[in-house]
Amino acid sequence: MQQRQLMKLLALSAVAVVVLSAGTAVSTCDKLKVGHYRQSCRNAESVVRDTVKYYFSRDQTVTAPLLRLHFHDCFVRGCDGSVLLNATAASGPAEKDAMPNQSLDGFYVIDAAKAALEKECPGVVSCADILALVARDAVSMAAGNISGPSLWQVPTGRLDGRVSSAAGAREAVANLPSSFADFAALKLNFAKKGLNVKDLAILSGAHAIGNSHCVSFAKRLYNFTGKGDADPTLDVHGYAALLRAACPPQFDSATTVEMVPGSSTTFDTDYYKLVASHRGLFHSDQALLQDGEAAAIVAAMASTTKQDFFRRFAVSMVRMGNVGVLTGTAGEIRKNCAMVN
Ligand code: HEM
Ligand SMILES: *[C@@H]1O[C@H](CO)[C@@H](O)[C@H](O)[C@H]1NC(C)=O
Ligand SMILES: *[C@@H]1O[C@H](CO)[C@@H](O)[C@H](O)[C@H]1NC(C)=O
Ligand SMILES: *[C@@H]1O[C@H](CO)[C@@H](O)[C@H](O)[C@H]1NC(C)=O
Ligand SMILES: *[C@@H]1O[C@H](CO)[C@@H](O)[C@H](O)[C@H]1NC(C)=O
Repeated sequence: MQQRQLMKLLALSAVAVVVLSAGTAVSTCDKLKVGHYRQSCRNAESVVRDTVKYYFSRDQTVTAPLLRLHFHDCFVRGCDGSVLLNATAASGPAEKDAMPNQSLDGFYVIDAAKAALEKECPGVVSCADILALVARDAVSMAAGNISGPSLWQVPTGRLDGRVSSAAGAREAVANLPSSFADFAALKLNFAKKGLNVKDLAILSGAHAIGNSHCVSFAKRLYNFTGKGDADPTLDVHGYAALLRAACPPQFDSATTVEMVPGSSTTFDTDYYKLVASHRGLFHSDQALLQDGEAAAIVAAMASTTKQDFFRRFAVSMVRMGNVGVLTGTAGEIRKNCAMVN
């Protein structure tokens, strides 16, 4: 073979490798586009926004569960609305039934948005897109932008999965990262979705809002390695005492604590300030300091402006929202988000 041909072949196969590896989880963005519903359902995004705003105005704690729903959806089977499916007699426990002590919430907001959209333009807007739009609106409102503008534009056009929740709970446990994970496990977990260390460190900033049940971190306080010890990465002074007071050794399984003490409904950079000072709530939060690149991002976000963090969060949210999306003939537009058509 002539050298030029060989070079061409090598160049082509290099392109093929790049395309293939990009295609595994984060699909190239051309499947989705901003304004996908502009023709088919002109008011889709404002209907969603008004729904979130209605619930937000009654209870500001609604935002965190709504953001978490989109994350859980995307990490199990891709962003295909599978997190919304109810268990059926045939399918057994669904994604939403996994880890009952760390229950997901906010389904009623998704259902209300879907009901309003079905009135506006029946059978057009997917539940997977509603999750992505609602998450964006929830974060924007928690960041103080209650009547707009939004913090980012959401590419839409996702279809809902037709696979009913067979083994959904088991898949959720297998795909979602553990709050006791070390950095290597977190990195691997995100890499399997096509997300990098930057995405991991920036998306972890979602823990600026919300609450957690004791079960998700209590081991850090009392019995971290099974020897009656505490997690050495936890600030042993004020913060550990505060958490022990909230979650005594025989804690009540319904008790929750704020992710960010005193500021769990405001989306900002406080999370990074806490992690930088060993007051991240989960071992997985604190594990970001185990890696040079992630630790540098934590330090940078702890001292940057909110606007700078928001911009980066927007980029990673769009990347997360691309994980395993279904388009074309691969899915459907569910009529009811809790069951396949
Ligand atoms: C990096 C790996 C992650 C781990 C190990 C993790 C783990 C957890 C755990 C254990 C809880 C508390 C559940 C409970 O006990 O009630 C939680 C809450 C939450 N997570 Fe994560 N998470 C991760 C990443 C993310 C990402 C990427 C997002 C969104 C982009 C997110 C958004 C949230 C939110 C908003 C809450 C609060 C929910 C509420 O208040 O109801 N998390 N997470
Ligand atoms: C609203 O969003 C913009 C970005 O689109 C941001 O620059 C601005 O600070 C936000 N407003 C508030 C009150 O946070
Ligand atoms: C601590 O963990 C070990 C190993 O899992 C277990 O055998 C022991 O009973 C635990 N101790 C307490 C006080 O829970
Ligand atoms: C988890 O939830 C179950 C009920 O769903 C409860 O029986 C159990 O005590 C809880 N475990 C913890 C550690 O909170
Ligand atoms: C799904 O389950 C929830 C909670 O059990 C229930 O309120 C809702 O009616 C169910 N939806 C469907 C379509 O079965």
